[in-house]
Amino acid sequence: MQNKFIKTDTKNKTSILTISRPEALNALNLEVLNEIECSLYEISLNRDICAVVITGDGEKAFVAGADIKEMANMSPIEAAKFAQKGHDILRLIRKMPQPVIAAVNGYALGGGFEMALACDIIYASQNAKFGFPEVTLGIIPGFGGTQNLSRLVGEKIANELIFTGNMIPAEKAKSLSIINEVFDSKAQLLEMALKTAEKISSNSPIAVALAKDAILNGINLPLNEAYHYESKVFGNLFSTQDQKEGMTAFIEKRKANFKGI
Ligand code: CAA
Repeated sequence: MQNKFIKTDTKNKTSILTISRPEALNALNLEVLNEIECSLYEISLNRDICAVVITGDGEKAFVAGADIKEMANMSPIEAAKFAQKGHDILRLIRKMPQPVIAAVNGYALGGGFEMALACDIIYASQNAKFGFPEVTLGIIPGFGGTQNLSRLVGEKIANELIFTGNMIPAEKAKSLSIINEVFDSKAQLLEMALKTAEKISSNSPIAVALAKDAILNGINLPLNEAYHYESKVFGNLFSTQDQKEGMTAFIEKRKANFKGI
């Protein structure tokens, strides 16, 4: 499929997915969402790709939210389906074996903030701004924001951000543990996102994928069930060539050559 709004590039074992609709600050309409979904699905099946970076085109925005002009005349059923499309993408990001890094430059608002929250790691540039302006439009966050922000930082912080519609700068988002790191410029942001992706790619892809699975599946389980889940995943890894290779390489004092099997 020829994409109109999504550029994909591969560097080493990392896919870089750039949302490119700068005339609308990369706002998410249905076409953009479909292209993101198809691109991520393709990447998720590609065993040569070990990490993904999602970013926004231009200097001003990561994604300034769902497309307000497209949403303005939606019926209730269309709006619910639109939200479900957003949820499908969040699920895909969480389920795909590769870790996904959001490299947030400029505005990450509404659906853009929600997409970043679904990613495994969030890096931002100094000029990034995060917020949920939905209540200023007479709606609520619909791509998982009410659920994922409150699970991440607790109800009180999520309440304040969602009820006020206020935007917070990158440093504040870092101090609230919403994001991992802040970098001075967009260039530095992308460089560091790629560096982290490269470090992830040097490890066993199957171990990284199952670590992601254990964290995401375990986090909502009672602790004893989560321990049980972790021990099963830990045990399963002892059936892989990567476990044999990783431990043999350590004992032989050489670098492991992982195959992801
Ligand atoms: N949808 C559609 N178009 C958008 C957009 C959006 N979310 N955000 C920006 N644009 C468009 C603007 O309409 C404008 O287009 P025109 O030149 O054709 O008018 C262009 O992008 C540039 O935007 P501005 O001129 O507004 O740029 P600015 O620098 O003055 O302001 C901004 C930047 C503060 C981000 C402002 O654009 C803004 O407030 N955008 C809307 C943010 C928002 O409310 N996002 C949440 C959407 S709802 C949602 O996401 C629901 C959900 O949970 C799924």
